[in-house]
Amino acid sequence: MEQLLQQLEQYKQEIAAAEAKTPEAVEAFRIKYLGTKGLLKTVMGEMKNVPNERKKEFGQILNEFKQFVENKYEILKEATVESSSALANIDLSLPGDPVLVGTRHPLSIVRNQIVSIFKRLGFAVAEGPEIEDDWHNFGAMNLPEDHPARDMQDTFYINQDPAWLLRTHTSSVQARVMEKQKPPIRVICPGRVYRNETISARAHCFFHQVEGLYIDENVSFADLKQTLYFFVQEMFGKDTKVRFRPSYFPFTEPSAEMDISCLICGGDGCTVCKHTGWVEILGSGMVHPKVLENFGIDPNKYTGFAFGMGVERICQLKFRVNDLRLYSQNDVRFLKQFTGVV
Ligand code: DAH
Repeated sequence: MEQLLQQLEQYKQEIAAAEAKTPEAVEAFRIKYLGTKGLLKTVMGEMKNVPNERKKEFGQILNEFKQFVENKYEILKEATVESSSALANIDLSLPGDPVLVGTRHPLSIVRNQIVSIFKRLGFAVAEGPEIEDDWHNFGAMNLPEDHPARDMQDTFYINQDPAWLLRTHTSSVQARVMEKQKPPIRVICPGRVYRNETISARAHCFFHQVEGLYIDENVSFADLKQTLYFFVQEMFGKDTKVRFRPSYFPFTEPSAEMDISCLICGGDGCTVCKHTGWVEILGSGMVHPKVLENFGIDPNKYTGFAFGMGVERICQLKFRVNDLRLYSQNDVRFLKQFTGVV
């Protein structure tokens, strides 16, 4: 018996030291120790020679031995599976799967560019609510209730309370700023606006504007022209021409719309500029004295200019996007074309 115990000890040492680097070597180990004619079988066969009174003791020892061999076998097997399938079968020089990061929306790209140009001129960014009251969107901007110019902007009113509406322009933020701040005021206000329009390639029920407001002593129309001219050159390049046309807005006097030479056709005439060579990009003017008075700003002391531009229009000129619906359809084939544009 003692001899058998000694032998088991020897086998254990041999097994503990055993190595198997390939699946074939692991299989050889299994056959040698765990196979039907393997060592474990032979050792187990010795049980019949053990005297009855020691059978229990030996049974336990042999069981432990069996577990020891099986454990070792599992360890060897796992090690080769890892190295053979997980690593050996992979070409480690292959490039990894690309991690797709999102891209900035073209409207965000253009908005950020507009904002950064005006920031360089000292304008701060101001924001206001999209759900507005009648006063900030219309009344304060010199559009009293019966004003016909209200019809220019088809408004979404809130059903439960028509005193509330979805802002039709970011000019409402001018009102919000003047309410809180006294001159000098120099802000730009980017944001989404809503109008009750039938959705088509050329019109949408929501779009984006950037509003500008500059109020101080001695602000003149020349300042307005120079500021907007600077903006156009920065945004569209030095060769871009501008022209101002007299216009009408209730909140400015005088008012002007600004056109730039068409970037699509270079001024030769195309469908975007309706064959005129010019594209309108914004409305502007000197802030109406009544608007200043609405906020307790003395129009004899202070003057100011304001402007409002459509982000979609600028985006159309920069990126040649000719269907407004693309901006809100979330089609990745469209969106991913702006990868890397910042
Ligand atoms: N609010 C006008 C619109 O949505 C745009 C505009 C015109 C804004 C003249 C202004 C401005 O601040 O002075 O059509």
